[in-house]
Amino acid sequence: MISVEGVHKSFGRQIVLDGVSLQVQPHEILAVVGPSGVGKSVLLKLIMGILQPDRGCITIKGESICEACSEGRRNKIRACCGVLFQSAALFDSLTVFDNIAFPLREEKHLPRDEVNQRVLDMLEALSLKKYAFRYPEQLSMGIRKRVGMARALVREPEIFLFDEPNTGLDPMDGQEVYELINDCRKKWKFAGLVISHEIPEVFQVSDRVAMLWNGKVVEEGPPAQLIKSTNPIVQQFLKGKTDGPIRIQ
Ligand SMILES: Nc1ncnc2c1ncn2[C@@H]1O[C@H](COP(=O)(O)OP(=O)(O)O)[C@@H](O)[C@H]1O
Ligand SMILES: [Mg+2]
Repeated sequence: MISVEGVHKSFGRQIVLDGVSLQVQPHEILAVVGPSGVGKSVLLKLIMGILQPDRGCITIKGESICEACSEGRRNKIRACCGVLFQSAALFDSLTVFDNIAFPLREEKHLPRDEVNQRVLDMLEALSLKKYAFRYPEQLSMGIRKRVGMARALVREPEIFLFDEPNTGLDPMDGQEVYELINDCRKKWKFAGLVISHEIPEVFQVSDRVAMLWNGKVVEEGPPAQLIKSTNPIVQQFLKGKTDGPIRIQ
């Protein structure tokens, strides 16, 4: 579904990604983990075609997003993807209902009755009915993420990308987001990429995990394999220790 092959990305003299290769297979969720600042969000932006790699190739369902020559072409390639951004990125001036309806009205230009029906179904499926006519500022961060999820799911994406899904949430709301991802996955059967530094919590939604460090994937495999890894970088990160190869700034 997503293929990242030998991707390099630098900003000025700072090398962020130094030859990263990753694959997301159909119906699989891959977690990309690593300490803050390793380039997880940069990787997500490269996949979405918001940034361009210096070298390497990224394809979504076999189509190269980095070789796409126009924004229109990139929009077509990423149309099969839904994204839940770190802050949920809702439109403050729109109600929950209108936030969820937005992609159906703006991108799909569906008739009004169909939009209304699909939004109602989504509100029901994600237990958001009672918030339908509230504005984002009137909602907790946990509910905002739920709305962000609904807005992405209403387009029925085949691939779902999550950037730090439980950032800004207390542990209980954070756990709820992971349960929500698992529930939605059963229902909508998307493949996914989850970017996170929250370990081991993120393992509960991932089939495979890749750890990024120093511009490279240092370990990749099912969560159980990562936990057993003898790589000192992986071990330090998993155990949250301050001493080891990872320097805490
Ligand atoms: N647009 C940009 N211009 C310059 N540097 C950037 C840009 N985006 C990210 N960086 C740098 O790339 C590094 C990785 O950032 P990021 O991907 O946000 O890390 P994280 O793994 O925490 O998500 C950071 O040092 C950041 O300052
Ligand atoms: Mg980030």
